Amino acid sequence: MRILVTGGAGFIGSNYVRKVIGGSYPAFAGADVVVLDKLTYAGNQENLAPVADSPQLSFVQGDISDAELVSTLMAGTDTVVHFAAESHVDRSILASTDFVRTNVLGTQVLLQAALDAGVGKFVHISTDEVYGSIERGSWTEDHVLEPNSPYSAAKAGSDLLARSYYRTHGLPVCVTRCSNNYGPYHFPEKVIPLFITNLIDGKPVPLYGDGQNVRDWLHVDDHCRGIQLVAEAGRPGEIYNIGGGTELTNRELTEKLLAATGRDWSFVRPVTDRKGHDRRYSVDITKISAELGYQAQISFEQGLADTVRWYTENRAWWEPLKQRAALTVA
Ligand code: NAD
Ligand code: DAU
Repeated sequence: MRILVTGGAGFIGSNYVRKVIGGSYPAFAGADVVVLDKLTYAGNQENLAPVADSPQLSFVQGDISDAELVSTLMAGTDTVVHFAAESHVDRSILASTDFVRTNVLGTQVLLQAALDAGVGKFVHISTDEVYGSIERGSWTEDHVLEPNSPYSAAKAGSDLLARSYYRTHGLPVCVTRCSNNYGPYHFPEKVIPLFITNLIDGKPVPLYGDGQNVRDWLHVDDHCRGIQLVAEAGRPGEIYNIGGGTELTNRELTEKLLAATGRDWSFVRPVTDRKGHDRRYSVDITKISAELGYQAQISFEQGLADTVRWYTENRAWWEPLKQRAALTVA
């Protein structure tokens, strides 16, 4: 069995690759895993260090928009799990060209190559942000798409392309839409790893706006377990929401991070709000639970404690990345 994982050197993709090669998913035991990753500022081969010596892993540095390369790599592939994307909302507000190029064009290149090669399953990793923002209740998969940032608009574009390749060509595509992930190897520009690493170093943390925006936190292991269920048994043409079931305002999250790092509210700096800042995300996970038996297994308390411990013990991983993040934004 051959699996092509795009963006496999990023936060979630590398977790998925480590799990596949580590034997967490028996249906994919022994599979050859080909990682295609451009190694942008967010990509990091060190994320694959625990499995780097595995004969199952092949790493290819390249761009998903490169049709020739993608077509070569797609030959003989059984399953594509497509994580590669520009993923940070704040960066998409500063400049969005790369978001359209990678998230929209790159996805189309992959879909076409998968169709040409006759792959058996294409799992497109999307996001709850394509639905927009919801005051109360939760989105089901048939909710209208109302993306608000250039990032989420580009992701919505890729979702619609995935849909079209199923409807027009019969390519067996599934789309997953998950909530906010957290866990080890999370690039320290996103709120949880940024705040943890700042607090470890005794630096202030920038809380956007009134801090009342709500996110639903999902441990990356639970997310990857959900993706695997979809890869194995998701119905072609279907969309599956994946959530964690822990909704917190950013103020509540910040309180927990302060407590976990032994800091107090004096470390919090209220700053100007993000432009177009979505107020709340909330996905209804009835479909994946009923059809595929998905359930989040990691409590937020346990997951957060483990995550804080991981960042405390892995300064050598994140310290250079914080400099890289600052430089690429500048
Ligand atoms: P990430 O930014 O950590 O990793 C993205 C990876 O894609 C990096 O390794 C990068 O080098 C690679 N990449 C970027 N452009 C590429 C290109 N043109 N060609 C090849 N590789 C390229 O992102 P992540 O947080 O791991 O997110 C993975 C996927 O999950 C994304 O599609 C994202 O939209 C989606 N998602 C993420 C979250 C979250 O909370 N992190 C939540 C919902 C959905
Ligand atoms: O919901 C899924 C999405 O979650 C994914 O599709 C995105 O790829 C991922 O980056 C994430 O997007 P968010 O914008 O929700 O994540 P971020 O960590 O950037 O911000 C989480 C919340 O914290 C958000 O309400 C903004 C706030 N925030 C963020 C940063 C970076 C702050 O208050 N201060 C900060 O410095």
